Amino acid sequence: MSVLVTGIGELLTGRLPGDEGPEVPLLVERAAVVLERDRVAWVGTAEGARSDGLAADVHVDAGGRAVVPGFVDSHAHLVFAGDRSAEFTARMAGERYAADGIRSTVAATRAASDEALLAGASRLVGEMLRQGTTTVEIKSGYGLTVRDEARSLAVARRLTEETTYLGAHVVPDGPDGGAGDAAAYVDLVTGPMLEACAPHARWIDVFCETGAFDVDQARAVLAAGAAAGLGGRLHANQLGPGPGVRLACELGLAAVDHCTYLDDADVAALADAGTTATLLPGVEFSTRQPYPDARRLLDAGVHVALASDCNPGSSFTSSLPFCVALAVREMGMTPTEAVLAATRGGARALARDDVGRIVPGARADLVLLDAPSHAHLAYRPGVPLVAGVWQRGRPVLP
Ligand code: NIG
Ligand code: FE
Repeated sequence: MSVLVTGIGELLTGRLPGDEGPEVPLLVERAAVVLERDRVAWVGTAEGARSDGLAADVHVDAGGRAVVPGFVDSHAHLVFAGDRSAEFTARMAGERYAADGIRSTVAATRAASDEALLAGASRLVGEMLRQGTTTVEIKSGYGLTVRDEARSLAVARRLTEETTYLGAHVVPDGPDGGAGDAAAYVDLVTGPMLEACAPHARWIDVFCETGAFDVDQARAVLAAGAAAGLGGRLHANQLGPGPGVRLACELGLAAVDHCTYLDDADVAALADAGTTATLLPGVEFSTRQPYPDARRLLDAGVHVALASDCNPGSSFTSSLPFCVALAVREMGMTPTEAVLAATRGGARALARDDVGRIVPGARADLVLLDAPSHAHLAYRPGVPLVAGVWQRGRPVLP
């Protein structure tokens, strides 16, 4: 099936000078787009579409509204059970965020059936789609046994091709309920658990932070993952400064996520390595930590992505429009930079060039906004501006 969309008041293609592929401007006013099956076939002005005599099976008039690429959420933990709203409420009253809460979600997740985990994750993917997210990465990390990590990834695999094995989220409690044995757990994560999980995963991730895994343990887990054919990514520098960001750069990982506490050497390493720094402002919103400084990273030439980190503890939002608004208000990004970080930035963090842009040949993932420009995503925070979504060329909303 082909679709011709005309009457687009402003089209944000997401293409920047220097990108490979057909030359289209970053912004096109009075634009038109042709989608052929699951791909973008043509991008230009409405006038160009008329003079080229373009036609399609279906014609849609955007009515002067803006169109942006489908959002690419490159960091989400959607396979879990339980609720931690009491922990959030306590934080808003002054408690500090501690990654210890992860263990309560682990207990609830282990007790949940596969069907319940799939239903919960599907509901969140649906929420994301209604807010314009057409590609999502989903991590395990709330199972922390061979069986529970493998079934979490099997659930994730039913919802996305971007699945990440996060057995190294925290060291689970020992059988007596006391602190678990970290060295033995790393052996499990890099041995039998990896073997059970690798068939369901594209990526491997480690929470490299005080209280979770140290840099040597992270290195060991990433090396084992690479040997099993998985790409590496890291959670690092979330709760304080640390060596995680530099490890990610040294290993040339696709992305390192959080990046809240960075020194000048970290920023320089990110710029040199080309590792994408994925910023997760939903976390700072709901943990009352300081926001990461996106302006500093962009000015240093670092590739920046925005993602939701949707999870029941540190950031229970599924909304990239909300993250865009926070990034503009709190992190020094322009609206255009923030929307690009949530689209092409997320794609780069997942080493993908087929999503996150509206250019000929790209996947036909488009979002129609009930607004005249993409800036309204930050200008009108909290307003449900997503009026339509095409995913792989098919209208999935309304
Ligand atoms: O990305 N940082 C580690 N993991 C999650 C939080 C998980 C939780 O609190 O349940 C994160 O923020
Ligand atoms: Fe996370």
